[in-house]
Amino acid sequence: MIAPVARAIRAKLFVRTPDAAGANPGEARFWDPLFAADAGGWELGRAAPPLVAWFSEHVPKGMQALVPGCGRGHEARLLAALEATVTAIDLAPTAIAQAQAMTPAGLAITFAVQDLFARIGQPPAFDLVVEHTCFCAIDPARRDDYVTAVADSLLPGGMLVGLFYAHGRPGGPPFTTDRAEVERRFAPRFAIEQLEVAHGSTLIRHRQELFAVMRRR
Ligand SMILES: C[S@@+](CC[C@H](N)C(=O)[O-])C[C@H]1O[C@@H](n2cnc3c(N)ncnc32)[C@H](O)[C@@H]1O
Repeated sequence: MIAPVARAIRAKLFVRTPDAAGANPGEARFWDPLFAADAGGWELGRAAPPLVAWFSEHVPKGMQALVPGCGRGHEARLLAALEATVTAIDLAPTAIAQAQAMTPAGLAITFAVQDLFARIGQPPAFDLVVEHTCFCAIDPARRDDYVTAVADSLLPGGMLVGLFYAHGRPGGPPFTTDRAEVERRFAPRFAIEQLEVAHGSTLIRHRQELFAVMRRR
């Protein structure tokens, strides 16, 4: 009973149509004002609980990890606290500035203003990519580019672990997905080892997130 109400309220906050200046989700100027105004309806204020649970059992110690669309860096800090070496990128300079300000000294995180799509065709450098509300923030027309960018970033055998938002509503961001789409888009580059409704999602995303573990071919 509570979950649908909470979701309806949160959905209103998360969805934002292009503004008067014509900014779209592929541009920093779409995201920057949301971070500056603390108006991101996606913001959990902590790493996503299903990812916290999974990484507590699959400790990424010693791994080179990439977090695309890192926002304020909650997943980056989770991984670094578990002794991964983390590169966390985001299109929005304000997000990166806030992430840096929130990160204690001593964690092995490099934050960078970078477009994920700039990684396409670059030499692979990572053992692990962690997805959390980046895929759903990207124009669905670019989803195959997302797959290419994360696959190209990973060394052969590297893992993609993440949450895919399957809320089923029209429009976005967040743009919804479903199990069939995730399988269809990722299967050419990844062996999908786990893809199921996430356990332990926050109330507003209860049963609306798919938890995925994939291995780059
Ligand atoms: C919905 S927010 C989620 C932020 C963070 N992952 C979280 O859950 O708190 C989506 C983020 O993806 C970033 N983003 C969107 N497109 C991107 C791209 N092509 N490359 C890098 N970051 C991107 C946005 O700037 C924004 O910070």
